[in-house]
Amino acid sequence: MKRIFSGVQPTGNLHLGNYLGAIRQFVALQHDYDCIYCVVDLHAITQWQEPGELRDQIRQVAAAYLAAGVDPQRCIIFNQSQVPAHAELAWIFNCVARLGWLNRMTQFKEKAGKHREQASAGLYVYPNLMAADILAYKASHVPVGEDQKQHLELTRDIAQKFNHDYGTEFFPIVEPLILSAAARVMSLRDGAKKMSKSDPSDASRLNMTDGPDEVAQKIRRAKTDTELLPGPDVLGAEGTLGEEARKARPEAYNLLGIYAALSDRSWTEVLAEFEGQQFSHFKQVLTDLAVAVLGPMGEEMQRMAGDPAYVDGILRSGAEKANAIAEPILRDVQDIVGFLRP
Ligand code: TYM
Repeated sequence: MKRIFSGVQPTGNLHLGNYLGAIRQFVALQHDYDCIYCVVDLHAITQWQEPGELRDQIRQVAAAYLAAGVDPQRCIIFNQSQVPAHAELAWIFNCVARLGWLNRMTQFKEKAGKHREQASAGLYVYPNLMAADILAYKASHVPVGEDQKQHLELTRDIAQKFNHDYGTEFFPIVEPLILSAAARVMSLRDGAKKMSKSDPSDASRLNMTDGPDEVAQKIRRAKTDTELLPGPDVLGAEGTLGEEARKARPEAYNLLGIYAALSDRSWTEVLAEFEGQQFSHFKQVLTDLAVAVLGPMGEEMQRMAGDPAYVDGILRSGAEKANAIAEPILRDVQDIVGFLRP
């Protein structure tokens, strides 16, 4: 059976982008694949995290997986720092990846910003650790949002170079699984910016824990333009939305894309339904749908926040299962590389 691996950083409020771009796919895939879902706390500390907040956020990500419907009987849910193979394999990959590859990573440039000299060394080698996460389980498929595509290309490069240098077929070449309608959910305040945990404006995102009033208020205030809603004639061949069309009305297509993803409908259906209508009516329909989807999940996450022992128990047993898979793979890698083992 194909093995799926994915992870979410415990670095702040989980939002609709994380849900639609990644976590919702985690749930759908668990019926057909062997799935491993990680809370990547080693990645989180590449930027400063208050220790107390980090602990809460780790539990919050695990709670989000569970509340969204990831079944711990079917899947492995664990946190990265409890499985030493991630950090050990990452070191080997630090010696496989080339500086030139890392220098091209756009996410490092965005996160390090103007003060690159002040960024942690961990932030720079972040993609190597991500490759180690996936390849420590020899996973072949990785569900993510579009922003992770470049990192997954690097994972493929690392696997290929390792295989080539050591003359083996040991690592699989991973395939990203990127869902189109919601692979890139944008900020509610600025259609040119990604919806993000680190945006200082809470109004820019729908958090997975927002209640109905917050959802309604944020959607009501979401930025739009002054035209009526477009119809399906803007779509290209095969009912896809081209980059040119999206760029012309980024906020409108962001909200329509969110609606399509939440309702599991195609662009054609959604554009036909709202063609020529005002934003005010559409926003009301979108609010009702967002509340219906996010509401029960948010409540379940709040409930689990009050029962950390439950979440910790799931993470502990997940780590045991993850270790049992990753450890033998790491030992094989050490043999291939030429390390002596006792
Ligand atoms: P992170 O924590 O930033 O995001 C978690 C997942 O949510 C997706 N995502 C989005 N999707 C659509 N629209 C958005 N606005 C949006 N924002 C975030 C991300 O693409 C991601 O799938 N490097 C990863 C974590 C990671 C990982 C891994 C992922 C570490 N190791 C191994 C896969 C496999 C990250 O920072 O995700």
